[in-house]
Amino acid sequence: MDDRQRYDRLTAHLDPPFAVVDLPALRANAAAMARRAAGKPIRIASKSVRSRAVLERILAMDGYAGIMAFTLPEALWLVSTGMRDVLVAYPTADRAALAELAATPRVAQEIAVMVDRDEQLDLIEAAVAGVRDRQEIRVCLDVDAGYLAFGGRFRAGVRRSPVRDIGQAVDLATEIAKRPGFRLVGVMAYEAQIAGVGDDLPGRPARARAVRWMQSRSQRELITRRGRIVQAVRQVADLEFVNGGGTGSIEKTARERAVTEITAGSGFFHPRLFDFYRNFTGRPAALFALPVVRRPAPGVVTVLGGGYTASGPPGRDRLPQPYLPYGLRYDPDEGAGEVQTPLIGEAAEDLRPGDRVWFRHAKAGELCERFTSLHLIEEDGIADEVPTYRGEGHAFL
Ligand SMILES: Cc1ncc(COP(=O)(O)O)c(C=O)c1O
Repeated sequence: MDDRQRYDRLTAHLDPPFAVVDLPALRANAAAMARRAAGKPIRIASKSVRSRAVLERILAMDGYAGIMAFTLPEALWLVSTGMRDVLVAYPTADRAALAELAATPRVAQEIAVMVDRDEQLDLIEAAVAGVRDRQEIRVCLDVDAGYLAFGGRFRAGVRRSPVRDIGQAVDLATEIAKRPGFRLVGVMAYEAQIAGVGDDLPGRPARARAVRWMQSRSQRELITRRGRIVQAVRQVADLEFVNGGGTGSIEKTARERAVTEITAGSGFFHPRLFDFYRNFTGRPAALFALPVVRRPAPGVVTVLGGGYTASGPPGRDRLPQPYLPYGLRYDPDEGAGEVQTPLIGEAAEDLRPGDRVWFRHAKAGELCERFTSLHLIEEDGIADEVPTYRGEGHAFL
Protein backbone atom coordinates (compact mmCIF):
# COMPACT_ATOMS: atom_id res chain seq x y z
CA MET A 1 0.00 0.00 0.00
CA ASP A 2 1.41 3.42 -0.86
CA ASP A 3 1.28 6.39 1.52
CA ARG A 4 -1.78 7.92 -0.09
CA GLN A 5 -3.78 4.71 0.18
CA ARG A 6 -2.64 4.27 3.76
CA TYR A 7 -3.57 7.83 4.78
CA ASP A 8 -6.93 7.65 2.99
CA ARG A 9 -7.77 4.29 4.53
CA LEU A 10 -6.72 5.13 8.09
CA THR A 11 -8.60 8.43 8.11
CA ALA A 12 -11.66 7.38 6.11
CA HIS A 13 -13.93 8.10 9.11
CA LEU A 14 -12.71 11.72 9.44
CA ASP A 15 -14.09 14.71 7.60
CA PRO A 16 -11.38 17.02 6.26
CA PRO A 17 -9.91 19.53 6.85
CA PHE A 18 -7.71 17.81 9.44
CA ALA A 19 -4.00 17.33 10.09
CA VAL A 20 -2.06 14.14 10.68
CA VAL A 21 1.38 13.20 11.92
CA ASP A 22 2.82 10.01 10.47
CA LEU A 23 4.52 8.58 13.56
CA PRO A 24 6.81 6.05 11.83
CA ALA A 25 8.05 8.90 9.61
CA LEU A 26 8.46 11.22 12.61
CA ARG A 27 10.41 8.57 14.54
CA ALA A 28 12.63 7.83 11.55
CA ASN A 29 13.36 11.53 11.12
CA ALA A 30 14.11 12.02 14.81
CA ALA A 31 16.36 8.95 14.95
CA ALA A 32 18.29 10.09 11.87
CA MET A 33 18.77 13.53 13.40
CA ALA A 34 20.04 12.05 16.66
CA ARG A 35 22.54 9.95 14.66
CA ARG A 36 23.74 13.07 12.87
CA ALA A 37 24.32 14.74 16.25
CA ALA A 38 26.74 11.92 17.11
CA GLY A 39 26.15 11.92 20.85
CA LYS A 40 25.56 15.62 21.45
CA PRO A 41 22.08 16.23 22.86
CA ILE A 42 19.48 17.89 20.63
CA ARG A 43 17.27 20.58 22.10
CA ILE A 44 13.86 20.59 20.38
CA ALA A 45 12.78 23.85 18.73
CA SER A 46 9.16 23.90 19.87
CA LYS A 47 8.08 26.41 17.21
CA SER A 48 8.55 23.64 14.65
CA VAL A 49 6.28 21.22 16.55
CA ARG A 50 3.70 23.24 18.56
CA SER A 51 2.06 20.26 20.19
CA ARG A 52 2.99 19.20 23.72
CA ALA A 53 2.10 15.58 23.10
CA VAL A 54 4.42 15.42 20.10
CA LEU A 55 7.20 17.26 21.95
CA GLU A 56 6.92 14.70 24.73
CA ARG A 57 7.14 11.79 22.31
CA ILE A 58 10.34 13.18 20.82
CA LEU A 59 11.82 14.01 24.23
CA ALA A 60 11.33 10.37 25.19
CA MET A 61 13.64 9.27 22.37
CA ASP A 62 17.40 8.82 22.74
CA GLY A 63 19.47 11.88 22.01
CA TYR A 64 16.97 14.56 22.99
CA ALA A 65 17.09 16.94 25.97
CA GLY A 66 15.42 20.25 26.61
CA ILE A 67 13.16 22.60 24.72
CA MET A 68 13.94 25.74 22.76
CA ALA A 69 10.78 27.81 23.20
CA PHE A 70 9.75 30.80 21.13
CA THR A 71 8.08 33.00 23.76
CA LEU A 72 8.35 33.36 27.52
CA PRO A 73 4.60 32.79 28.11
CA GLU A 74 5.00 29.54 26.17
CA ALA A 75 7.99 28.55 28.32
CA LEU A 76 6.06 29.33 31.53
CA TRP A 77 3.17 27.22 30.32
CA LEU A 78 5.40 24.30 29.32
CA VAL A 79 7.11 24.34 32.72
CA SER A 80 3.74 24.52 34.47
CA THR A 81 2.87 21.25 32.74
CA GLY A 82 6.06 19.57 33.98
CA MET A 83 8.54 20.22 31.17
CA ARG A 84 12.07 21.08 32.19
CA ASP A 85 15.09 22.90 30.83
CA VAL A 86 13.46 25.45 28.52
CA LEU A 87 15.55 28.01 26.67
CA VAL A 88 13.59 30.96 25.27
CA ALA A 89 15.49 31.65 22.06
CA TYR A 90 14.21 35.14 21.30
CA PRO A 91 14.36 38.18 23.59
CA THR A 92 11.20 38.98 25.53
CA ALA A 93 9.57 42.30 26.42
CA ASP A 94 6.66 40.67 28.24
CA ARG A 95 6.66 42.31 31.68
CA ALA A 96 3.97 40.14 33.22
CA ALA A 97 5.69 36.95 32.07
CA LEU A 98 9.03 38.18 33.41
CA ALA A 99 7.44 38.95 36.78
CA GLU A 100 5.96 35.44 36.82
CA LEU A 101 9.34 33.97 35.94
CA ALA A 102 11.04 35.79 38.81
CA ALA A 103 8.36 34.91 41.35
CA THR A 104 8.74 31.13 41.63
CA PRO A 105 12.00 29.22 42.29
CA ARG A 106 11.01 26.08 40.42
CA VAL A 107 10.01 28.06 37.35
CA ALA A 108 13.06 30.33 37.38
CA GLN A 109 15.34 27.29 37.62
CA GLU A 110 13.94 25.65 34.49
CA ILE A 111 13.96 28.62 32.12
CA ALA A 112 16.66 30.77 30.54
CA VAL A 113 15.88 33.95 28.60
CA MET A 114 17.84 35.45 25.72
CA VAL A 115 19.75 38.74 25.79
CA ASP A 116 22.09 40.44 23.37
CA ARG A 117 22.31 44.00 24.80
CA ASP A 118 22.29 45.57 28.23
CA GLU A 119 19.04 47.40 27.46
CA GLN A 120 17.26 44.04 27.68
CA LEU A 121 18.75 43.56 31.14
CA ASP A 122 17.34 46.99 32.08
CA LEU A 123 13.92 45.93 30.80
CA ILE A 124 14.02 42.70 32.80
CA GLU A 125 15.13 44.54 35.94
CA ALA A 126 12.26 47.00 35.63
CA ALA A 127 9.76 44.19 35.03
CA VAL A 128 10.79 42.18 38.08
CA ALA A 129 11.51 45.10 40.42
CA GLY A 130 8.28 44.67 42.37
CA VAL A 131 8.54 40.91 42.80
CA ARG A 132 8.97 39.74 46.38
CA ASP A 133 11.70 37.12 47.00
CA ARG A 134 12.76 37.62 43.45
CA GLN A 135 14.57 34.65 41.92
CA GLU A 136 17.75 34.88 39.90
CA ILE A 137 17.01 35.21 36.19
CA ARG A 138 18.96 32.75 34.07
CA VAL A 139 20.12 34.33 30.85
CA CYS A 140 21.69 33.13 27.64
CA LEU A 141 23.88 35.35 25.49
CA ASP A 142 22.90 35.40 21.81
CA VAL A 143 25.89 35.71 19.47
CA ASP A 144 25.52 36.58 15.79
CA ALA A 145 26.64 33.58 13.74
CA GLY A 146 26.03 35.23 10.37
CA TYR A 147 28.63 35.36 7.63
CA LEU A 148 30.19 38.60 6.41
CA ALA A 149 32.48 38.89 3.40
CA PHE A 150 34.00 41.59 1.20
CA GLY A 151 34.41 44.00 4.09
CA GLY A 152 30.83 43.51 5.22
CA ARG A 153 29.30 44.21 1.80
CA PHE A 154 28.10 40.58 1.57
CA ARG A 155 26.04 39.28 4.43
CA ALA A 156 24.33 35.91 4.97
CA GLY A 157 22.35 34.91 8.02
CA VAL A 158 19.61 36.32 10.17
CA ARG A 159 19.64 39.79 11.69
CA ARG A 160 19.44 39.09 15.35
CA SER A 161 22.20 39.73 17.86
CA PRO A 162 24.53 42.75 17.58
CA VAL A 163 27.16 40.72 19.50
CA ARG A 164 29.62 39.40 16.96
CA ASP A 165 33.17 39.52 18.22
CA ILE A 166 35.02 38.37 21.32
CA GLY A 167 35.21 41.85 22.84
CA GLN A 168 31.47 42.46 22.54
CA ALA A 169 30.65 39.04 23.97
CA VAL A 170 33.00 39.46 26.93
CA ASP A 171 31.68 42.97 27.61
CA LEU A 172 28.09 41.78 27.76
CA ALA A 173 29.00 38.68 29.78
CA THR A 174 30.83 40.93 32.25
CA GLU A 175 27.85 43.27 32.46
CA ILE A 176 25.56 40.32 33.23
CA ALA A 177 27.95 39.01 35.87
CA LYS A 178 28.07 42.45 37.52
CA ARG A 179 24.33 42.80 37.86
CA PRO A 180 22.72 41.18 40.88
CA GLY A 181 19.75 39.02 40.05
CA PHE A 182 21.12 37.62 36.81
CA ARG A 183 23.11 34.51 36.02
CA LEU A 184 24.69 33.86 32.66
CA VAL A 185 24.16 30.17 31.96
CA GLY A 186 24.56 29.79 28.22
CA VAL A 187 25.70 31.04 24.86
CA MET A 188 23.69 30.54 21.68
CA ALA A 189 24.96 31.18 18.17
CA TYR A 190 22.57 30.05 15.45
CA GLU A 191 23.97 29.74 11.93
CA ALA A 192 20.72 30.16 9.98
CA GLN A 193 22.59 30.58 6.69
CA ILE A 194 23.85 27.00 6.98
CA ALA A 195 21.14 25.29 9.02
CA GLY A 196 18.13 26.77 7.25
CA VAL A 197 19.22 27.25 3.64
CA GLY A 198 19.00 24.29 1.27
CA ASP A 199 22.10 23.69 -0.86
CA ASP A 200 20.53 21.27 -3.32
CA LEU A 201 18.23 23.32 -5.50
CA PRO A 202 16.89 21.41 -8.49
CA GLY A 203 16.94 23.51 -11.65
CA ARG A 204 19.05 26.23 -10.04
CA PRO A 205 22.66 25.02 -10.28
CA ALA A 206 24.24 28.48 -10.11
CA ARG A 207 22.34 29.38 -6.95
CA ALA A 208 23.16 25.98 -5.41
CA ARG A 209 26.88 26.54 -6.11
CA ALA A 210 26.72 30.01 -4.54
CA VAL A 211 24.98 28.62 -1.45
CA ARG A 212 27.61 25.88 -1.05
CA TRP A 213 30.44 28.39 -1.42
CA MET A 214 28.91 30.66 1.20
CA GLN A 215 28.16 27.80 3.58
CA SER A 216 31.63 26.28 3.49
CA ARG A 217 33.27 29.70 4.07
CA SER A 218 30.81 30.51 6.81
CA GLN A 219 31.36 27.20 8.56
CA ARG A 220 35.12 27.67 8.57
CA GLU A 221 34.82 31.20 9.90
CA LEU A 222 32.37 30.16 12.59
CA ILE A 223 34.41 27.26 13.96
CA THR A 224 37.14 29.70 14.90
CA ARG A 225 35.00 32.63 16.02
CA ARG A 226 32.49 30.60 18.01
CA GLY A 227 35.32 28.65 19.66
CA ARG A 228 37.17 31.81 20.71
CA ILE A 229 34.06 33.58 21.94
CA VAL A 230 33.03 30.62 24.06
CA GLN A 231 36.53 30.28 25.51
CA ALA A 232 36.58 33.98 26.44
CA VAL A 233 33.06 34.00 27.91
CA ARG A 234 33.92 30.94 30.00
CA GLN A 235 36.53 33.10 31.77
CA VAL A 236 33.67 35.30 32.98
CA ALA A 237 30.87 32.81 33.66
CA ASP A 238 30.35 29.11 34.31
CA LEU A 239 28.39 28.18 31.22
CA GLU A 240 26.00 25.25 31.42
CA PHE A 241 25.56 25.03 27.66
CA VAL A 242 26.66 26.35 24.29
CA ASN A 243 23.89 26.00 21.73
CA GLY A 244 24.15 26.09 17.96
CA GLY A 245 22.79 24.73 14.75
CA GLY A 246 19.51 23.71 13.27
CA THR A 247 18.10 20.87 11.22
CA GLY A 248 20.26 21.53 8.17
CA SER A 249 23.56 21.75 10.04
CA ILE A 250 23.31 19.13 12.80
CA GLU A 251 26.38 17.05 11.92
CA LYS A 252 28.51 20.10 11.12
CA THR A 253 27.62 22.00 14.28
CA ALA A 254 28.03 18.87 16.41
CA ARG A 255 31.64 18.56 15.26
CA GLU A 256 32.59 21.87 16.88
CA ARG A 257 34.24 21.32 20.21
CA ALA A 258 32.86 24.56 21.67
CA VAL A 259 29.24 23.52 21.07
CA THR A 260 27.67 21.36 23.78
CA GLU A 261 24.18 20.95 22.32
CA ILE A 262 22.38 21.32 18.99
CA THR A 263 18.92 22.68 18.33
CA ALA A 264 16.62 21.16 15.74
CA GLY A 265 12.95 21.46 14.97
CA SER A 266 11.95 21.40 11.32
CA GLY A 267 13.45 17.99 10.65
CA PHE A 268 10.81 16.19 12.71
CA PHE A 269 7.89 17.09 10.43
CA HIS A 270 10.22 17.51 7.44
CA PRO A 271 8.22 20.19 5.61
CA ARG A 272 8.63 21.12 1.97
CA LEU A 273 11.43 23.70 2.42
CA PHE A 274 13.64 20.98 3.90
CA ASP A 275 13.62 18.86 0.75
CA PHE A 276 16.59 20.72 -0.70
CA TYR A 277 19.62 19.65 1.32
CA ARG A 278 22.46 17.41 0.16
CA ASN A 279 23.49 16.15 3.59
CA PHE A 280 20.18 14.65 4.70
CA THR A 281 16.74 13.57 3.59
CA GLY A 282 13.67 13.03 5.67
CA ARG A 283 10.17 11.67 5.35
CA PRO A 284 7.20 14.03 5.21
CA ALA A 285 5.67 13.46 8.64
CA ALA A 286 3.05 16.21 8.99
CA LEU A 287 0.30 16.52 6.42
CA PHE A 288 -3.09 18.08 6.16
CA ALA A 289 -6.06 16.84 4.19
CA LEU A 290 -8.47 19.10 2.36
CA PRO A 291 -11.69 17.87 0.76
CA VAL A 292 -12.42 18.12 -2.94
CA VAL A 293 -15.68 20.06 -3.15
CA ARG A 294 -16.18 20.66 -6.87
CA ARG A 295 -14.87 20.22 -10.37
CA PRO A 296 -14.95 23.50 -12.31
CA ALA A 297 -13.63 22.01 -15.58
CA PRO A 298 -11.87 18.94 -16.94
CA GLY A 299 -8.48 18.59 -15.25
CA VAL A 300 -9.37 20.98 -12.41
CA VAL A 301 -10.66 20.26 -8.92
CA THR A 302 -11.36 22.69 -6.12
CA VAL A 303 -10.54 21.91 -2.51
CA LEU A 304 -11.89 23.75 0.50
CA GLY A 305 -9.38 26.13 2.20
CA GLY A 306 -5.68 25.83 1.52
CA GLY A 307 -4.09 29.25 1.98
CA TYR A 308 -1.81 28.29 4.82
CA THR A 309 1.12 30.34 3.66
CA ALA A 310 4.39 30.07 5.56
CA SER A 311 6.35 32.97 7.07
CA GLY A 312 9.52 34.37 5.51
CA PRO A 313 10.28 36.24 2.30
CA PRO A 314 7.11 36.03 0.21
CA GLY A 315 7.30 33.67 -2.71
CA ARG A 316 5.88 30.52 -4.24
CA ASP A 317 8.06 28.39 -2.02
CA ARG A 318 6.03 29.57 1.00
CA LEU A 319 2.83 27.92 -0.27
CA PRO A 320 1.82 24.46 0.90
CA GLN A 321 2.74 21.68 -1.50
CA PRO A 322 -0.19 19.73 -3.00
CA TYR A 323 1.45 16.40 -2.22
CA LEU A 324 -0.85 13.41 -2.77
CA PRO A 325 -2.04 12.42 -5.28
CA TYR A 326 1.11 13.43 -7.14
CA GLY A 327 0.87 15.81 -10.04
CA LEU A 328 -1.43 18.58 -8.82
CA ARG A 329 -0.43 22.24 -9.08
CA TYR A 330 -1.89 25.64 -8.31
CA ASP A 331 -3.66 27.87 -10.76
CA PRO A 332 -1.11 30.72 -11.07
CA ASP A 333 -3.90 33.32 -10.93
CA GLU A 334 -5.29 32.02 -7.64
CA GLY A 335 -2.54 30.26 -5.72
CA ALA A 336 -3.60 28.81 -2.38
CA GLY A 337 -6.93 30.41 -1.54
CA GLU A 338 -8.46 31.71 1.65
CA VAL A 339 -11.53 29.51 1.47
CA GLN A 340 -11.01 27.41 -1.64
CA THR A 341 -8.17 26.40 -3.90
CA PRO A 342 -8.38 25.15 -7.48
CA LEU A 343 -5.80 22.51 -8.36
CA ILE A 344 -4.81 21.60 -11.88
CA GLY A 345 -3.26 18.48 -13.33
CA GLU A 346 -3.89 15.06 -14.72
CA ALA A 347 -4.44 13.64 -11.26
CA ALA A 348 -7.50 15.88 -10.95
CA GLU A 349 -9.32 13.68 -13.47
CA ASP A 350 -9.66 10.89 -10.94
CA LEU A 351 -10.84 13.05 -8.03
CA ARG A 352 -14.48 13.51 -7.03
CA PRO A 353 -16.20 15.59 -4.33
CA GLY A 354 -15.44 14.01 -0.97
CA ASP A 355 -12.00 12.75 -1.99
CA ARG A 356 -8.99 14.21 -0.21
CA VAL A 357 -5.93 16.02 -1.36
CA TRP A 358 -2.97 15.72 1.04
CA PHE A 359 -0.76 18.77 1.48
CA ARG A 360 2.56 19.48 3.12
CA HIS A 361 3.19 22.84 4.75
CA ALA A 362 6.24 24.77 3.51
CA LYS A 363 7.46 25.09 7.12
CA ALA A 364 6.95 22.88 10.12
CA GLY A 365 5.08 24.11 13.18
CA GLU A 366 3.03 26.86 11.58
CA LEU A 367 0.68 24.16 10.36
CA CYS A 368 -0.45 23.70 13.96
CA GLU A 369 -1.81 27.25 14.08
CA ARG A 370 -4.47 26.07 11.60
CA PHE A 371 -5.61 22.95 13.41
CA THR A 372 -6.68 22.27 16.96
CA SER A 373 -5.55 18.65 16.89
CA LEU A 374 -3.20 16.24 15.17
CA HIS A 375 -4.22 12.68 14.34
CA LEU A 376 -1.24 10.47 15.07
CA ILE A 377 -1.01 7.68 12.53
CA GLU A 378 0.86 4.44 12.95
CA GLU A 379 1.65 1.96 10.16
CA ASP A 380 -1.77 0.35 10.41
CA GLY A 381 -4.03 2.53 12.51
CA ILE A 382 -4.63 5.84 14.20
CA ALA A 383 -2.76 5.84 17.50
CA ASP A 384 -4.19 8.96 19.06
CA GLU A 385 -5.62 12.41 18.54
CA VAL A 386 -3.61 15.04 20.41
CA PRO A 387 -4.08 18.80 20.74
CA THR A 388 -1.88 21.41 19.13
CA TYR A 389 -0.97 24.50 21.15
CA ARG A 390 -4.03 26.11 19.53
CA GLY A 391 -6.14 23.19 20.59
CA GLU A 392 -5.08 23.83 24.17
CA GLY A 393 -6.18 27.44 23.79
CA HIS A 394 -2.78 28.99 23.18
CA ALA A 395 -1.78 31.20 20.27
CA PHE A 396 1.65 32.38 21.35
CA LEU A 397 2.69 33.75 17.97
C1 LIG B 1 17.72 30.11 17.54
C2 LIG B 1 17.37 29.00 16.63
N1 LIG B 1 18.03 27.84 16.70
C3 LIG B 1 17.74 26.83 15.90
C4 LIG B 1 16.76 26.93 14.94
C5 LIG B 1 16.60 25.74 14.03
O1 LIG B 1 15.38 25.27 13.84
P1 LIG B 1 15.04 24.24 12.67
O2 LIG B 1 15.68 22.97 13.01
O3 LIG B 1 13.57 24.22 12.72
O4 LIG B 1 15.56 24.81 11.39
C6 LIG B 1 16.04 28.10 14.83
C7 LIG B 1 15.01 28.26 13.81
O5 LIG B 1 14.66 29.31 13.36
C8 LIG B 1 16.35 29.18 15.69
O6 LIG B 1 15.71 30.36 15.62
